[in-house]
Amino acid sequence: MSTIEEEFIATVSHELRTPLTSIRGFSQTLLNSWDKIKDDDKKKFIGIIEEQSNRLIHLVENILTVSRADAEHQVLKKTNVNEIIRKIVPLIENQYKGHKYEINLMPTLPPALLDEDKFQQIMTNLVDNASKYSEEGKKVTISTEICKNMICIKVKDEGVGIKAEDYDKIFKKFSRLENHLTSKTQGNGLGLYITKQLVEKMNGHITFTSSKEGTIFEIVFPFYNEEDVLRCSQTS
Ligand SMILES: Nc1ncnc2c1ncn2[C@@H]1O[C@H](COP(=O)(O)OP(=O)(O)O)[C@@H](O)[C@H]1O
Ligand SMILES: [Mg+2]
Repeated sequence: MSTIEEEFIATVSHELRTPLTSIRGFSQTLLNSWDKIKDDDKKKFIGIIEEQSNRLIHLVENILTVSRADAEHQVLKKTNVNEIIRKIVPLIENQYKGHKYEINLMPTLPPALLDEDKFQQIMTNLVDNASKYSEEGKKVTISTEICKNMICIKVKDEGVGIKAEDYDKIFKKFSRLENHLTSKTQGNGLGLYITKQLVEKMNGHITFTSSKEGTIFEIVFPFYNEEDVLRCSQTS
């Protein structure tokens, strides 16, 4: 087993054990001392059991996504990045009705060699974060262009921003940063971890810049090239 896998299992075990221990503890207390516990406290304990069960459900869903991302074979093909962006953004727009969305796509953008489902997952994670970590009424801008001979996709928000001291945490598993929107929103800190893995598996690169005005996530992919397709089919 690789160090990454061992580290992953250690983190997951910890994340599973914490809510399970709490669920077991409160259930045992209720069972053993039912007659002695006040009604208000009973209600509170059952509330905690429910909350911790929900936490487990979200966690398991994300762990399944992570293991699928690692194990699943990629289906790389000539992909029109703009087309997928046009398809994905309205789906997220639907969930965040208070935000504004702007799409600026380069009409002559060359194709890339990508797995379409995985690229959709990448875009969904980034546009979802841009929406989730900015207040209602703010604008999320998704754009494509060519930069340094690569296909460049940017997701820009006017949100809470990422503090410099958090820069090295952002792509780590289960890391949610402290800001007032993180505590108000659902998440488990796996989205950007999965995103980075997927981008790099498809020979891309992800970076971000952030300030008080907001954050820009940028991903780059090489242009589609017949020779790469041949090489992929020989090695897989
Ligand atoms: N666009 C963004 N602006 C500000 N903070 C962000 C942004 N995207 C991600 N973050 C921070 O990084 C953390 C990790 O993101 P992610 O892995 O997608 O997890 P999740 O969204 O489940 O919390 C988030 O909890 C949030 O604190
Ligand atoms: Mg997220």
